[in-house]
Amino acid sequence: MPLDLPRLDLRGFVSPVQPLHRLSEELGVEVWAKRDDLGSVGLAGNKVRKLEVELARARELGATHLVTEGSRHSNATRAAAAAAAALGMRCTLVLCHDEPKEPVGNLLLDALFGADLRLVGDISWVELAQRTSDVVAELEADGEHVYRLPIGSATGRGATSFARAYRELDEQMAAEGASFSTIVHASSAGSTHAGLVLGRAIKGADTRILGVVVAENVYDDVPGRYLQLAREAAALVAPTIEIGADALEITEQYLGEGYGKPADGVYEAIDLMARLEGIVVDPVYTGKAAAALIDQARRQTLRGPVVFWHTGGYHAMFDPAYTSVVWGNVPRLRQLEL
Ligand SMILES: Cc1ncc(COP(=O)(O)O)c(C=O)c1O
Repeated sequence: MPLDLPRLDLRGFVSPVQPLHRLSEELGVEVWAKRDDLGSVGLAGNKVRKLEVELARARELGATHLVTEGSRHSNATRAAAAAAAALGMRCTLVLCHDEPKEPVGNLLLDALFGADLRLVGDISWVELAQRTSDVVAELEADGEHVYRLPIGSATGRGATSFARAYRELDEQMAAEGASFSTIVHASSAGSTHAGLVLGRAIKGADTRILGVVVAENVYDDVPGRYLQLAREAAALVAPTIEIGADALEITEQYLGEGYGKPADGVYEAIDLMARLEGIVVDPVYTGKAAAALIDQARRQTLRGPVVFWHTGGYHAMFDPAYTSVVWGNVPRLRQLEL
């Protein structure tokens, strides 16, 4: 079964899997991590996999200008800006969520990577998509050959990279002489989840794949769009595979007050991952996925061995907005005298 669309290699290595012995002992469940967070500052995280196939397509089409959208905190736009720089493409980013007015880590990186930034204020995701379409029309009218990526690089094509990633994990775990029953990952625009679900279907496995939703109202119909992404991906690489709505498992239980806002368990998750494993999870994305893993392990509703798919994004820890919040909410840090 052809699983691989043409792709550029933007990472240069296969992200490792590693057992998290001390966390496993703490939780009483065998936990592993798939370290997609590793890589250079610009090109780390789950978005790079999607960019590898999307930008191969952009090149095939002769595009010279990449346009995409997201929050100012977005890892997807930061990775897109870095990839565009590395490939010699122009890049325009349309970014919302600009309150408070302080610069944030990913915004600094977007600018350093040379992207043209369009800051459009605190508008909804749906309005952001419309504003981005307007920017694309404007650039095309100026003669630019644009390749547009939607929010989070969420396309069926991008999702195929995570079907491939599922196979990669499966092979790595087998090489370690280990198995896995559950994958837990942070989820927002959906192509990570859609791709993993497709990868599992291709393998014929019964792994539980739990997508921990970290952003509210990304689409009018979130499960519907996720399913569409999985089906579009299947149509590209495995057309005989059928994906039903029951293949998806996404939960908003750990979203807390919303995207980038506090949620129960997130600071404890940041603390435990750091203190027990030397691994950084952030308050916006992976901290919520880790909180879900910890909570479900403690409730004994998580079948092990579990793979925590670390999707990257540690840069958010160093945004002024988050540094003080993390410091103030991890009890052992709060007690430190500065
Ligand atoms: C660190 C991190 N984890 C998870 C996600 C969610 O991935 P997806 O958009 O494929 O659902 C994102 C992107 O929004 C991210 O930056």
